[in-house]
Amino acid sequence: MNDIRKIMVLGAGDLGRRVFHELAHGGGRHVQLVGRDEDATLRAANLTRYCALQRGYADVGVSHAVTDLADVARTAERIARFAPDVLFLAASYQSWWVISTLPKDAFERLYAANYGPWLPMHLVPVMKAMEAVRMAGSDATVVNAAYPDAVHPALAAAGLAPHIGIGNLANNVPGIRVAAADELGCAPDEVEVRLVAHHYVSHRLSRRGDSGPAAMGLSLLWEGRDVTAKVDIAGLLRRLPGRYRRTGGLAGQAMTAASALSVLEPLVERRDAVVHAPGPMGMIGGYPVAIESGRFRLLPPDGMTREEALAINVSGQVQDGITEIRADGTVVFEDASMGVLAEELGYDCREMPLPDAEGRAREIAERFAAYRERVAAGNAGKATRLILRISGARRR
Ligand SMILES: NC(=O)c1ccc[n+]([C@@H]2O[C@H](COP(=O)([O-])OP(=O)(O)OC[C@H]3O[C@@H](n4cnc5c(N)ncnc54)[C@H](OP(=O)(O)O)[C@@H]3O)[C@@H](O)[C@H]2O)c1
Repeated sequence: MNDIRKIMVLGAGDLGRRVFHELAHGGGRHVQLVGRDEDATLRAANLTRYCALQRGYADVGVSHAVTDLADVARTAERIARFAPDVLFLAASYQSWWVISTLPKDAFERLYAANYGPWLPMHLVPVMKAMEAVRMAGSDATVVNAAYPDAVHPALAAAGLAPHIGIGNLANNVPGIRVAAADELGCAPDEVEVRLVAHHYVSHRLSRRGDSGPAAMGLSLLWEGRDVTAKVDIAGLLRRLPGRYRRTGGLAGQAMTAASALSVLEPLVERRDAVVHAPGPMGMIGGYPVAIESGRFRLLPPDGMTREEALAINVSGQVQDGITEIRADGTVVFEDASMGVLAEELGYDCREMPLPDAEGRAREIAERFAAYRERVAAGNAGKATRLILRISGARRR
């Protein structure tokens, strides 16, 4: 049996490259980075290859390939040719951090919309990739980074949901373990967490230290025993953005990459593990998940049913700006969230049937580009007026 495991990373942006780089530092595997720019992807792959060699990982296969996800047939050909065992999707038309590159006041206005209204920018590239997976006849386990909490349930209707997501709630778990261990007076690796939380809550926990108007589920185990009642949970969560704060922004995507690897490594190494992941089996939001022989099983806190865990996540979904994801994949957006994009970008979509997603993504991209120009022109105008005022004052 050929025991070289093959992992394809599709999407050569910040997160994709981080994960690809880490995956190359492990034996018995071949990793391939797929981007859409030949030169940039070749350079990124070579950088990883040289770093792995420098650190003594000489038996790792490292390669690259090029495709544009808009070309499903070409992507399918790439997938069929490489035949990955595991496929990691890290492509997006507009990652979460892009609005943070706007001037501060514009960023803050858009930030108030939360994440839901931007869904098409994550959903469409994943949908294209999954169409390619099907066209290639691939049986790879597909793991996706792009807003799995909402992308997977929407795509499930078309049979296109990746198997599991990464990050979001998982990014908070190490901080919770460390904070709980400090309170219990033990080592972090003696503490296990069972967290049920939507992207909205995950995002809020590290910034505000609570779940806000949304529900969440959390239980703590110490050496296998439930010790949740022994810990002041609200106090612990409040300390996450305080004493237990961590680097955020793009540099903070090191945490997301680690969360991705917590799912990918067991799949690559064919070992069982307990992880946290959004969007397992097309479900809304995030859950503790057992990986068992390459399959996934929900592992909610003791005493919590699957329905209760889902209801917790639906409460987070609404706060994220999505009222409902219907069984046919139609997404209904919250008026308050969408109202922000309507006001700022002139983009207004209260209900999105799945076949409309591609057109909606194109529309957001165009309106966002125009918005960026308007904001920049407005700021340039403000700066010119300020310079004129200052030079006028000097003359006086
Ligand atoms: N789950 C989590 O905890 C978590 C945390 C962080 C990020 N994320 C998500 O992960 C995704 C990637 O994030 P990132 O920060 O790495 O974003 P990024 O740096 O912007 O990378 C996105 C990549 O997608 C590629 N792409 C866009 N359109 C494409 C197309 N038509 N064909 C092929 N590739 C295409 C881009 O290619 P080019 O380089 O050619 O433009 C880019 O390399 C986003 O959805 C982000 O929101 C999730």
